[in-house]
Amino acid sequence: MHQCNCENPLLPTIVEVVDIKDETSDVKSFYVKSEEGVPFNVMPGQLAMVSLIPVGEGMFSVSWQEEQEYLQFAIKRVGLMTDELHKIEVGQKIGVRGPYGNGFPVEDCQGKDMLFIAGGIGLAPLRSFIKYCFKHREDYGKIQILYGSRSYDDLCFKDELFEKWPQEKDTEVYVTIDNAEEGWDGHVGFVPSYLEELNPNPAGKIAVTCGPPIMIKFVLQALEKMGYSDEQVITTLEMRMKCGIGKCGRCNIGSQYICLDGPVFNLAQLRELPPEW
Ligand code: FES
Repeated sequence: MHQCNCENPLLPTIVEVVDIKDETSDVKSFYVKSEEGVPFNVMPGQLAMVSLIPVGEGMFSVSWQEEQEYLQFAIKRVGLMTDELHKIEVGQKIGVRGPYGNGFPVEDCQGKDMLFIAGGIGLAPLRSFIKYCFKHREDYGKIQILYGSRSYDDLCFKDELFEKWPQEKDTEVYVTIDNAEEGWDGHVGFVPSYLEELNPNPAGKIAVTCGPPIMIKFVLQALEKMGYSDEQVITTLEMRMKCGIGKCGRCNIGSQYICLDGPVFNLAQLRELPPEW
């Protein structure tokens, strides 16, 4: 059942942190639910405002919703709010409101082969789409996942990357780290150059990418070189989402508000915006 504070969308629902998992030294997954289940239903790529009283609030992508069991947020420590969030313990209450943003076009991608390309914490929003594809496996073709991080320790969701996802039907997982290190015998190098090495055929495929801006820039160039059309490439500008409701004026590019029209766009749509993204 959809549950939200429909009369006042700015009012958070209080949820309990039911589990916390260390993903890396600076990324933790928080699993939350209210007494009734999850406070609202989200689609892959949507975000929610998480509030920690009295510290503040921040917009984070929901990295998975497990039915009415929990919402999962994978949150990287990057400042005061996230530092404080990382100190909370299981059983503590926090606020969440949402969902915000358009999310990934899961229906438009049905029948296509999917290529997911992520760097660092950029896997968190893509993971919701990846898991959605696995849940609705018959609706999607071959799935390829390319993920990279600075080091082995910085790779998020290792159990899924190395154990669960490679066992899914018709699925290939490619992992790389930026620099060689002891104990790592996998691929070494940046995501865009690994992508060019793999050279996945664009026929019938949708590429979805999220990561640091510099990675996205070179991934988009590589995809173009490989023959992907602008309509075949999707990304999310979720880092721009602040208030999520067109009020703060901090997400606009030209006259467009990323929070109202996005944050998910295909490259053809992005090319119509001033080149500030
Ligand atoms: S995020 Fe505040 S106006 Fe878009």
